Amino acid sequence: MAHVIDGKKIATEIREDLRQEVQILRDRHGIVPGLAVVIAGADPASQVYVRMKRKACEQAGMASFHHELPGDVSEQVLLDLIGRLNADTAVHGILTQLPLPGHICEQRVLEAISPDKDVDGFHPYNVGLLTIGSPRFPPCTPQGVMELLRVAGIDPRGQRVVVVGRSNIVGKPMALLLLAAHATVTIAHSRTPELMRVVREADIVVAAVGRPRMIKGEWIKEGAVVIDVGTNRLPDGSLCGDVDFDSVVGHASFITPSPGGVGPMTIAMLLQNTVNSAKARV
Ligand code: GUN
Repeated sequence: MAHVIDGKKIATEIREDLRQEVQILRDRHGIVPGLAVVIAGADPASQVYVRMKRKACEQAGMASFHHELPGDVSEQVLLDLIGRLNADTAVHGILTQLPLPGHICEQRVLEAISPDKDVDGFHPYNVGLLTIGSPRFPPCTPQGVMELLRVAGIDPRGQRVVVVGRSNIVGKPMALLLLAAHATVTIAHSRTPELMRVVREADIVVAAVGRPRMIKGEWIKEGAVVIDVGTNRLPDGSLCGDVDFDSVVGHASFITPSPGGVGPMTIAMLLQNTVNSAKARV
Protein backbone atom coordinates (compact mmCIF):
# COMPACT_ATOMS: atom_id res chain seq x y z
CA MET A 1 0.00 0.00 0.00
CA ALA A 2 1.19 3.46 -0.86
CA HIS A 3 2.20 6.02 1.71
CA VAL A 4 -0.40 8.80 1.55
CA ILE A 5 1.22 12.25 1.45
CA ASP A 6 -0.73 14.60 3.70
CA GLY A 7 -0.72 17.88 1.78
CA LYS A 8 -3.00 19.54 4.28
CA LYS A 9 -0.56 18.94 7.13
CA ILE A 10 2.48 20.02 5.10
CA ALA A 11 0.68 23.17 3.93
CA THR A 12 -0.33 24.02 7.50
CA GLU A 13 3.31 23.82 8.62
CA ILE A 14 4.44 26.08 5.76
CA ARG A 15 1.72 28.59 6.57
CA GLU A 16 2.80 28.63 10.23
CA ASP A 17 6.42 29.34 9.18
CA LEU A 18 5.18 32.12 6.89
CA ARG A 19 3.16 33.64 9.73
CA GLN A 20 6.38 33.99 11.71
CA GLU A 21 8.21 35.48 8.73
CA VAL A 22 5.40 37.97 8.25
CA GLN A 23 5.66 39.01 11.89
CA ILE A 24 9.40 39.62 11.52
CA LEU A 25 8.86 41.67 8.35
CA ARG A 26 6.29 43.74 10.18
CA ASP A 27 8.31 44.23 13.41
CA ARG A 28 11.73 44.84 11.89
CA HIS A 29 10.89 46.53 8.60
CA GLY A 30 7.35 47.84 8.99
CA ILE A 31 6.24 45.89 5.93
CA VAL A 32 2.95 43.98 5.85
CA PRO A 33 2.86 41.68 2.80
CA GLY A 34 -0.31 42.42 0.85
CA LEU A 35 -2.12 40.29 -1.74
CA ALA A 36 -4.78 41.72 -4.05
CA VAL A 37 -7.23 39.15 -5.41
CA VAL A 38 -9.40 40.10 -8.38
CA ILE A 39 -12.40 38.02 -9.34
CA ALA A 40 -14.85 38.75 -12.15
CA GLY A 41 -18.19 36.95 -12.22
CA ALA A 42 -19.78 34.42 -9.91
CA ASP A 43 -18.25 31.07 -10.91
CA PRO A 44 -18.95 29.05 -7.73
CA ALA A 45 -15.62 27.15 -7.75
CA SER A 46 -13.67 30.41 -8.22
CA GLN A 47 -15.61 32.02 -5.36
CA VAL A 48 -14.64 29.16 -3.06
CA TYR A 49 -10.95 29.33 -4.07
CA VAL A 50 -10.84 33.09 -3.64
CA ARG A 51 -12.43 32.89 -0.19
CA MET A 52 -9.82 30.30 0.87
CA LYS A 53 -6.98 32.49 -0.44
CA ARG A 54 -8.26 35.52 1.47
CA LYS A 55 -8.70 33.57 4.69
CA ALA A 56 -5.22 32.09 4.41
CA CYS A 57 -3.76 35.58 3.93
CA GLU A 58 -5.45 36.90 7.01
CA GLN A 59 -4.41 33.89 9.12
CA ALA A 60 -0.79 34.53 8.12
CA GLY A 61 -1.05 38.15 9.29
CA MET A 62 -0.91 39.45 5.72
CA ALA A 63 -3.13 42.10 4.17
CA SER A 64 -5.67 40.96 1.62
CA PHE A 65 -7.37 43.31 -0.82
CA HIS A 66 -10.45 41.85 -2.38
CA HIS A 67 -11.88 43.15 -5.68
CA GLU A 68 -15.07 41.47 -6.83
CA LEU A 69 -16.28 42.64 -10.23
CA PRO A 70 -19.53 41.74 -12.00
CA GLY A 71 -19.43 39.10 -14.72
CA ASP A 72 -20.19 41.71 -17.40
CA VAL A 73 -17.35 44.05 -16.36
CA SER A 74 -15.52 45.57 -19.32
CA GLU A 75 -11.95 44.61 -20.05
CA GLN A 76 -10.94 48.26 -19.69
CA VAL A 77 -12.33 48.53 -16.16
CA LEU A 78 -10.40 45.41 -15.21
CA LEU A 79 -7.18 46.74 -16.82
CA ASP A 80 -7.61 50.08 -15.01
CA LEU A 81 -7.99 48.29 -11.68
CA ILE A 82 -4.82 46.30 -12.33
CA GLY A 83 -3.03 49.54 -13.19
CA ARG A 84 -3.99 50.98 -9.79
CA LEU A 85 -2.91 47.80 -7.97
CA ASN A 86 0.43 47.89 -9.84
CA ALA A 87 0.99 51.41 -8.45
CA ASP A 88 -0.20 50.67 -4.90
CA THR A 89 2.82 50.18 -2.59
CA ALA A 90 0.71 48.23 -0.05
CA VAL A 91 0.15 45.53 -2.69
CA HIS A 92 3.00 43.04 -3.17
CA GLY A 93 1.07 40.40 -5.09
CA ILE A 94 -1.77 40.58 -7.61
CA LEU A 95 -3.81 37.55 -8.59
CA THR A 96 -6.61 37.51 -11.13
CA GLN A 97 -8.67 34.40 -10.57
CA LEU A 98 -9.06 32.36 -13.76
CA PRO A 99 -11.09 31.65 -15.78
CA LEU A 100 -12.19 35.18 -16.67
CA PRO A 101 -15.55 35.80 -18.37
CA GLY A 102 -15.44 34.88 -22.08
CA HIS A 103 -15.54 38.44 -23.45
CA ILE A 104 -12.28 39.36 -21.67
CA CYS A 105 -8.91 38.54 -23.23
CA GLU A 106 -7.19 36.57 -20.49
CA GLN A 107 -3.72 37.05 -21.94
CA ARG A 108 -4.10 40.84 -22.13
CA VAL A 109 -5.07 40.91 -18.45
CA LEU A 110 -2.22 38.66 -17.36
CA GLU A 111 0.24 40.83 -19.30
CA ALA A 112 -1.08 43.96 -17.54
CA ILE A 113 0.01 42.69 -14.12
CA SER A 114 3.44 44.03 -13.17
CA PRO A 115 5.91 41.11 -13.39
CA ASP A 116 7.19 42.23 -9.95
CA LYS A 117 3.77 41.51 -8.42
CA ASP A 118 2.81 38.51 -10.53
CA VAL A 119 2.65 35.98 -7.68
CA ASP A 120 0.84 33.45 -9.91
CA GLY A 121 3.82 33.52 -12.30
CA PHE A 122 1.57 33.79 -15.37
CA HIS A 123 3.07 36.92 -16.98
CA PRO A 124 5.05 35.99 -20.13
CA TYR A 125 8.18 37.55 -18.60
CA ASN A 126 7.93 35.24 -15.59
CA VAL A 127 7.06 32.30 -17.84
CA GLY A 128 10.28 33.14 -19.70
CA LEU A 129 12.32 33.18 -16.48
CA LEU A 130 10.89 29.79 -15.56
CA THR A 131 11.70 28.47 -19.02
CA ILE A 132 15.36 29.47 -18.78
CA GLY A 133 15.59 27.86 -15.35
CA SER A 134 15.64 30.92 -13.06
CA PRO A 135 12.04 31.44 -11.94
CA ARG A 136 11.16 34.41 -9.75
CA PHE A 137 7.54 33.40 -9.06
CA PRO A 138 7.11 29.72 -9.92
CA PRO A 139 3.39 29.02 -10.53
CA CYS A 140 1.81 28.00 -7.24
CA THR A 141 0.39 24.55 -8.01
CA PRO A 142 3.51 23.07 -9.67
CA GLN A 143 5.66 24.66 -6.96
CA GLY A 144 3.40 23.02 -4.39
CA VAL A 145 3.97 19.64 -6.06
CA MET A 146 7.76 20.14 -5.93
CA GLU A 147 7.49 20.97 -2.23
CA LEU A 148 5.38 17.86 -1.54
CA LEU A 149 7.99 15.71 -3.30
CA ARG A 150 10.79 17.36 -1.33
CA VAL A 151 9.10 16.91 2.05
CA ALA A 152 8.25 13.27 1.21
CA GLY A 153 11.94 12.68 0.43
CA ILE A 154 11.37 12.00 -3.28
CA ASP A 155 14.13 13.35 -5.53
CA PRO A 156 13.04 13.60 -9.20
CA ARG A 157 16.67 13.56 -10.38
CA GLY A 158 17.13 10.82 -12.95
CA GLN A 159 13.50 9.71 -12.64
CA ARG A 160 11.14 9.25 -15.56
CA VAL A 161 8.22 11.59 -14.97
CA VAL A 162 5.00 11.68 -16.95
CA VAL A 163 2.92 14.84 -16.55
CA VAL A 164 -0.61 14.22 -17.81
CA GLY A 165 -1.98 17.63 -18.81
CA ARG A 166 -0.55 20.52 -20.77
CA SER A 167 -2.20 23.63 -19.32
CA ASN A 168 -0.34 26.91 -18.83
CA ILE A 169 -1.32 26.87 -15.14
CA VAL A 170 -0.13 23.36 -14.26
CA GLY A 171 1.10 20.95 -16.95
CA LYS A 172 3.66 23.11 -18.76
CA PRO A 173 5.21 24.84 -15.72
CA MET A 174 5.20 21.48 -13.87
CA ALA A 175 7.26 19.93 -16.64
CA LEU A 176 9.73 22.85 -16.54
CA LEU A 177 10.25 22.64 -12.76
CA LEU A 178 10.81 18.87 -12.98
CA LEU A 179 13.21 19.34 -15.86
CA ALA A 180 15.16 21.86 -13.78
CA ALA A 181 15.27 19.20 -11.05
CA HIS A 182 16.96 16.82 -13.55
CA ALA A 183 14.01 14.53 -14.22
CA THR A 184 13.38 13.06 -17.67
CA VAL A 185 10.00 14.54 -18.45
CA THR A 186 7.22 13.54 -20.82
CA ILE A 187 4.16 15.73 -21.22
CA ALA A 188 1.15 13.63 -22.17
CA HIS A 189 -2.46 14.73 -22.41
CA SER A 190 -5.99 13.58 -23.13
CA ARG A 191 -5.20 13.12 -26.84
CA THR A 192 -1.99 11.16 -26.38
CA PRO A 193 -2.36 7.78 -28.13
CA GLU A 194 -1.99 4.82 -25.79
CA LEU A 195 -1.93 7.08 -22.77
CA MET A 196 -2.03 4.12 -20.39
CA ARG A 197 1.17 2.68 -21.91
CA VAL A 198 2.92 6.06 -21.60
CA VAL A 199 1.87 6.46 -17.96
CA ARG A 200 3.02 2.91 -17.15
CA GLU A 201 6.60 3.93 -18.03
CA ALA A 202 6.68 6.55 -15.29
CA ASP A 203 8.51 6.47 -11.97
CA ILE A 204 6.53 9.59 -11.05
CA VAL A 205 3.10 10.45 -12.47
CA VAL A 206 1.62 13.93 -12.13
CA ALA A 207 -2.07 13.95 -13.09
CA ALA A 208 -3.38 17.35 -14.13
CA VAL A 209 -5.81 16.53 -16.89
CA GLY A 210 -9.15 17.49 -15.30
CA ARG A 211 -10.96 14.17 -15.80
CA PRO A 212 -12.46 12.52 -12.74
CA ARG A 213 -10.66 9.30 -11.68
CA MET A 214 -9.21 8.79 -15.17
CA ILE A 215 -5.90 7.25 -14.02
CA LYS A 216 -6.50 3.67 -12.89
CA GLY A 217 -4.41 1.22 -10.90
CA GLU A 218 -3.48 -0.81 -14.00
CA TRP A 219 -1.88 2.34 -15.50
CA ILE A 220 0.66 2.55 -12.67
CA LYS A 221 4.04 0.84 -12.60
CA GLU A 222 4.54 -0.99 -9.30
CA GLY A 223 6.08 1.40 -6.78
CA ALA A 224 5.60 4.59 -8.80
CA VAL A 225 4.87 7.92 -7.11
CA VAL A 226 1.43 9.33 -8.02
CA ILE A 227 0.64 13.03 -7.57
CA ASP A 228 -2.98 14.03 -8.19
CA VAL A 229 -3.47 17.68 -9.11
CA GLY A 230 -7.08 17.21 -10.21
CA THR A 231 -10.05 18.59 -8.32
CA ASN A 232 -13.28 17.59 -10.06
CA ARG A 233 -16.82 18.01 -8.86
CA LEU A 234 -19.03 14.95 -9.35
CA PRO A 235 -22.76 15.17 -10.10
CA ASP A 236 -23.54 14.36 -6.42
CA GLY A 237 -21.57 17.47 -5.39
CA SER A 238 -18.57 15.61 -3.94
CA LEU A 239 -14.97 16.25 -5.05
CA CYS A 240 -12.52 13.78 -6.55
CA GLY A 241 -9.15 13.84 -8.26
CA ASP A 242 -7.92 12.75 -11.70
CA VAL A 243 -6.61 9.57 -10.07
CA ASP A 244 -8.80 6.62 -9.13
CA PHE A 245 -7.36 6.54 -5.61
CA ASP A 246 -8.85 3.19 -4.55
CA SER A 247 -7.41 1.24 -7.48
CA VAL A 248 -4.05 3.11 -7.54
CA VAL A 249 -3.20 3.03 -3.82
CA GLY A 250 -2.26 -0.68 -4.01
CA HIS A 251 0.28 -0.12 -6.82
CA ALA A 252 1.98 3.17 -5.91
CA SER A 253 4.70 3.78 -3.32
CA PHE A 254 3.44 7.30 -2.59
CA ILE A 255 0.15 8.94 -3.48
CA THR A 256 -1.49 12.28 -2.78
CA PRO A 257 -5.21 12.32 -2.03
CA SER A 258 -7.60 14.78 -3.65
CA PRO A 259 -8.92 16.72 -1.90
CA GLY A 260 -6.26 17.16 0.80
CA GLY A 261 -3.11 16.77 -1.30
CA VAL A 262 -1.92 19.37 -3.79
CA GLY A 263 -4.80 21.84 -3.29
CA PRO A 264 -3.76 23.14 0.12
CA MET A 265 -0.17 23.47 -1.14
CA THR A 266 -1.25 25.83 -3.93
CA ILE A 267 -2.49 28.32 -1.35
CA ALA A 268 0.62 27.96 0.80
CA MET A 269 2.83 28.67 -2.24
CA LEU A 270 0.74 31.72 -3.16
CA LEU A 271 1.38 33.14 0.30
CA GLN A 272 5.07 32.25 -0.01
CA ASN A 273 5.38 34.04 -3.35
CA THR A 274 3.66 37.09 -1.85
CA VAL A 275 5.97 37.12 1.18
CA ASN A 276 8.98 36.80 -1.14
CA SER A 277 7.68 39.71 -3.21
CA ALA A 278 7.39 41.82 -0.04
CA LYS A 279 10.88 40.79 1.07
CA ALA A 280 12.27 42.08 -2.21
CA ARG A 281 11.26 45.57 -0.97
CA VAL A 282 13.36 45.35 2.19
N1 GUN B 1 -7.67 29.12 -11.55
C1 GUN B 1 -7.33 27.82 -11.30
N2 GUN B 1 -6.11 27.77 -10.74
C2 GUN B 1 -5.67 29.03 -10.62
C3 GUN B 1 -4.48 29.61 -10.11
O1 GUN B 1 -3.55 28.95 -9.64
N3 GUN B 1 -4.43 30.95 -10.16
C4 GUN B 1 -5.43 31.70 -10.67
N4 GUN B 1 -5.26 33.02 -10.68
N5 GUN B 1 -6.53 31.22 -11.16
C5 GUN B 1 -6.65 29.87 -11.13
